[in-house]
Amino acid sequence: MQLYKNLMRPLLFTLEPETAWHLSDLGLSQTWFWKIMGRGFQHHNEFLGATVAGIPIKNPVGLAAGYDKNCRFLPSLQELGFGYVMGGTITKDPRPGNPKPRVIRLKDQSALINALGFPGDGLEKVLSEISEMASVPKKSVRIMSVSGTDIPDIAECHQQLEPFCDAIELNISSPNTKGLRIFQEPAKLRSLLAEINQSRSKPILVKMPPFKLENGDDEKTLNLGRICLEEKVESLTVSNTIPIQHDGLAVGQGGLSGSPLFENTIAMVETYQAEFGDKIEINACGGISNGYQAYEALKSGASSIQILTSLIYEGPRVVQSINKELSELFTNRGDPRN
Ligand SMILES: Cc1cc2nc3c(=O)[nH]c(=O)nc-3n(C[C@H](O)[C@H](O)[C@H](O)COP(=O)(O)O)c2cc1C
Repeated sequence: MQLYKNLMRPLLFTLEPETAWHLSDLGLSQTWFWKIMGRGFQHHNEFLGATVAGIPIKNPVGLAAGYDKNCRFLPSLQELGFGYVMGGTITKDPRPGNPKPRVIRLKDQSALINALGFPGDGLEKVLSEISEMASVPKKSVRIMSVSGTDIPDIAECHQQLEPFCDAIELNISSPNTKGLRIFQEPAKLRSLLAEINQSRSKPILVKMPPFKLENGDDEKTLNLGRICLEEKVESLTVSNTIPIQHDGLAVGQGGLSGSPLFENTIAMVETYQAEFGDKIEINACGGISNGYQAYEALKSGASSIQILTSLIYEGPRVVQSINKELSELFTNRGDPRN
């Protein structure tokens, strides 16, 4: 942690955010390095065992969608001690994403604003990447996030990628992609899930939009959760970035992530828990960067947590550090899930 925070982060943060990200990708492309170093990034404690979408995981900390959009670095990322790693979001066709600048750092808030708009290589390229990885032993559960603007495209991504992972997350909530939010219409969401259900053999997660700040209507969002439950979705990820305006972005608005989201994440998890109880699993996502926050999320009813922005601010040891703190809290305060 110290090496990253004292040396690497100050250097990376002198660069424009996307340039810094590509530089980190260079590091992640050295899978052999992470395989050797991986042992030092683990924290084992059998009491941390959890589930995501019903799948057993060694600890409740997952990597959120968006860090490895083209699934090129999953073999390295799985060495960092996560309970599960998420690749994607993958779309059927390659996409350039929005014009740059499209990522902004808010350093004083440990936050980011991104308006990437799903830049990605598309399904075919991702399939060739992950089929090459088939022989790499899986050290954590692997999930892939898919999205698109129409049902056939998403269904195709789902069908083709499902054999290469343990579950699929359907992203219906990116604030930065025109047309994607049509699946926040109840009838459209139901049709999408019905189509996916026809052929799926593994669990699905749905990534929900945030409350309040989108459409100004929590009830509307909760209703999407009810549809997911009726359509036998195993798990809801609560939630995505929060839409925000910023003049520094070429498109003028993006999604806020990182620390400012935390309280809203907990409030949303509590609301879902009150509504659905144990009928559907919840993954808390938004603003989590330490074990105390992870503990609070589990106590509020989440079965797992997902992180992204804290990985960028705190470095790769953040996973181990969250799990260590969680272990201590489990010992001192008890398992919050009981
Ligand atoms: C740079 C960036 C790219 C992202 N890309 C995606 C994406 O492709 N798909 C997705 O579902 N969420 C994406 N997200 C949202 C994250 O998965 C997560 O929901 C959000 O950042 C809140 O978690 P955090 O505060 O731990 O970062 C992205 C977030 C960031 C910061």
